[in-house]
Amino acid sequence: MSKGLTNYGDRGFSLFLRKAFIKGAGYTDSALTRPVIGIVNTGSAYNPCHGNAPQLIEAVKRGIMLAGGLPMDFPTISIHESFSAPTSMYLRNLMSMDTEEMVRAQPMDAVVLIGGCDKTVPAQLMGAASAGIPAIQLVTGAMLTGSHRSERVGACTDCRRYWAYYRADQIDDQEIADVNNQLVASVGTCSVMGTASTMACIAEALGMMVPGGASAPAVTADRIRIAEQTGTLAVQMSKDRLTIDKVLTAEAFENAMRVLLAIGGSTNGIIHLTAIAGRMGFEVDLEALDRFGAETPVLVDLKPSGQHYMEDFHKAGGMITLLRELKPLLHLNAMTVTGRTLGEELDAASAPFKQDVVRPFNNPIYPQGGIAVLRGNLAPGGAIIKQSAAAPELMEHEGRAVVFEDAEDMVTRLDDPDLDVNADDVLVLKRIGPKGAPGMPEAGYIPIPMKLARAGVKDMVRISDGRMSGTAAGTIVLHVTPEAAVGGPLAYVQNGDRIRLSVKNREIALLVSAEELAERARVAPVVEPTADRGYRKLFLTTVTQADEGVDFDFLRAATMTGTVPRTK
Ligand code: FES
Ligand code: MG
Repeated sequence: MSKGLTNYGDRGFSLFLRKAFIKGAGYTDSALTRPVIGIVNTGSAYNPCHGNAPQLIEAVKRGIMLAGGLPMDFPTISIHESFSAPTSMYLRNLMSMDTEEMVRAQPMDAVVLIGGCDKTVPAQLMGAASAGIPAIQLVTGAMLTGSHRSERVGACTDCRRYWAYYRADQIDDQEIADVNNQLVASVGTCSVMGTASTMACIAEALGMMVPGGASAPAVTADRIRIAEQTGTLAVQMSKDRLTIDKVLTAEAFENAMRVLLAIGGSTNGIIHLTAIAGRMGFEVDLEALDRFGAETPVLVDLKPSGQHYMEDFHKAGGMITLLRELKPLLHLNAMTVTGRTLGEELDAASAPFKQDVVRPFNNPIYPQGGIAVLRGNLAPGGAIIKQSAAAPELMEHEGRAVVFEDAEDMVTRLDDPDLDVNADDVLVLKRIGPKGAPGMPEAGYIPIPMKLARAGVKDMVRISDGRMSGTAAGTIVLHVTPEAAVGGPLAYVQNGDRIRLSVKNREIALLVSAEELAERARVAPVVEPTADRGYRKLFLTTVTQADEGVDFDFLRAATMTGTVPRTK
């Protein structure tokens, strides 16, 4: 075992002591002279998205031993979207610290990160980036789609749709119970292009994964083979000292941004990518990312922007097919965990074949990247809109603000028949940002007020400092920075103010003078949320805004050395 010697007296005694303890598990001296490969086990009864972790660990171990290494699996915390209160995002940085510190603390020459559910892959990449040793990402893979009365269904785009049928009395108790059995048809991650699939594709685009490793469903032989290959590669990486800084370069982040745009990925992907880049000393330039978007079409035809599921993407060749199509936009010299460049991997991949999930460059799903970046006096630090999911007629819009002070205020008043609201108003929700909720919940998808919904209104301009699930759609402005809870301009919006959205001009403007806003701030200044103790105190005192990835300030690289994407 090569590093991380705990000092109990002299160096020789430290090694002697540690060997004595590990021999308690029955290892021979021969076993202990091999490269030690850590395997992060995030299996948990609370995390069905990671339900295949035991089989994956077995296959990773096989790959490691076939290559002459010694596998050592160890647990970290595991985060499931549905079982993490107040929100999974609140725990992402904690998981990244757990990952970083356990990788640092325990002797290992390389590490295999097994994640899958939304926040776990970003947490692991953030932690591994800071720990600095050779690291390779394995994802648990997508769940299978189910079948409900002959209709194909998958989490969680179809979850919302069926619940809406049920609320509208279009289906009965029996049918909603039946479909509940089919929406999540196996272990594995959500089967649409939500955050889990987005982060799997981003990890592969970053060069952090076995080529083709993003898309294989959780329960397939392909997934197990990828796990075995991952273990074998980890041993090679440890021998070559292929540390994570050689893979997570500016080129790699730019490739990942291209992919985020081209897959019509979750808006959460921007925040996670910003956080991972921040660990490597890169700031993310949102304007430059927006310019990237103008020349990067959406090519992957997956729900919610398209019609297919992850298993279809896999059958279509997965990321290899997409990366080949994006080749003119990529840095082909970016190093990957295989020890070869992205370009070399694409050259070595099997020949393309006919498929209908990844569109050719000249026939995209959407002509430009799905995400546009907005600025203006309402969001001096930026905001985003998923333009591919917005209503074209609302993308240039001016309206009257209807303000909700926080999530509870919204729940209380949104469906009140006396609420003063019209279809061309702009719904504003405050205090669901990083510190506001806390943890920046996916509450940015503000429902259409009941009385308007009943009148047939399908979409309105909605603005908040929160996030939105990768499966939702609408003209929804998210990640307004700085957030209301720290005194961003959003905090001082009042009912009746005029707000202008212009996606064409990339503008989100509050049509109120600076003097008036300053006066409002003087009369009723924002009091930032605080906590007396524990993780919540750490969170509230150190969490950064969306433009810095909602990471803790002390976890980002000590010095920022560059900006991505780089302006040419
Ligand atoms: Fe785990 Fe969707 S709930 S990936
Ligand atoms: Mg999600």
